[in-house]
Amino acid sequence: MAILKILQYPDDRLHKVATSVKQVTDSSRKLIKDMAETMYAAPGIGLAATQVDQHLRIIIVDTSEENNNLMVFINPEIISFSGESDCEEGCLSVPGIYEKVRRAERITVKALNLKGDPFSMDAEGLLAVCIQHEMDHLLGKVFVEYLSPLKQTRIRAKIKKRVRETM
Ligand code: NI
Repeated sequence: MAILKILQYPDDRLHKVATSVKQVTDSSRKLIKDMAETMYAAPGIGLAATQVDQHLRIIIVDTSEENNNLMVFINPEIISFSGESDCEEGCLSVPGIYEKVRRAERITVKALNLKGDPFSMDAEGLLAVCIQHEMDHLLGKVFVEYLSPLKQTRIRAKIKKRVRETM
């Protein structure tokens, strides 16, 4: 297992659109193991392959309090959604920034599991938000891009300042 480097916003590679996994193989499973180790070490509650510069449709999520409920979604697709919720989000690619984003409150998602078998599940609350956030990464979208241009400019300035200070 290995801890992977998480791309930091603004990085153009975060805007790449991921392609579907053709077949779930040992190399997909190895990538997922490394992603899980990276997410738990960060620590975070979700990670998309895009964030570790692997542009495949794979996301992982663990919203449990004990960090013992890893969920893996390969080629995820939202097949239904309802309701609205405004939840404060953060992202391992945009550390230290937390902003409210409007998402669907409940979703049904279908995907492949680690064995390559299809499954579908209903999610709501934090889990639903997290899945939607991670799926955006696969489309090359970072959550701060939902915010007003002014807010985005401020966030970029804040990040630049922080990078300068830590150099
Ligand atoms: Ni994120």
